Amino acid sequence: MKTLIVYYSRTDITKKVAEDIREKLECDIERIMPKVNYNTKIGYARGIKDAIGEKIVDLEDLTYDPADYDEVILGVPVWASKAANPLISYIDKNNGKFKDIKIFVTAGSSGFESTIKQIEKHIGLKASKTMTLKTIDVKNDAYESKVNEFIE
Ligand SMILES: Cc1cc2nc3c(=O)[nH]c(=O)nc-3n(C[C@H](O)[C@H](O)[C@H](O)COP(=O)(O)O)c2cc1C
Repeated sequence: MKTLIVYYSRTDITKKVAEDIREKLECDIERIMPKVNYNTKIGYARGIKDAIGEKIVDLEDLTYDPADYDEVILGVPVWASKAANPLISYIDKNNGKFKDIKIFVTAGSSGFESTIKQIEKHIGLKASKTMTLKTIDVKNDAYESKVNEFIE
């Protein structure tokens, strides 16, 4: 089975999990890079506004085509109880190209389920598996068993 991991990460929490999964599956991985800068104090406020508005933003060039994969694993942080909008922008750009999806979500404490539902709605598919991780658990490396279950 051919798997692609696609993730967005502002402060490298979701990135850490995505890279761990890549190591275990030895598959292709794509980091979504928005052209909008969310990495500043103003960027944080913009992130909340854009996530709530599900704003579609321009992305830097992508390497892989999700249509070439049996399964795409999507990773995203929660922003204002929604998916960070760069991931929604990626989905919008690749509409209709997904065959099977898995979703993992990182957040401080809340908004996991609403984020998963939102992504499934945008893609029009139910995830075959989902995983939710708290930022603190990722920081403390307390998530390996969840990852193993997620990818089995
Ligand atoms: C704009 C913004 C909004 C956020 N909103 C939420 C939220 O609604 N609930 C929550 O638990 N965490 C929220 N967070 C925290 C992130 O989801 C959390 O720190 C995540 O693990 C960061 O992942 P990353 O380092 O991959 O960007 C928010 C962070 C940002 C930057």
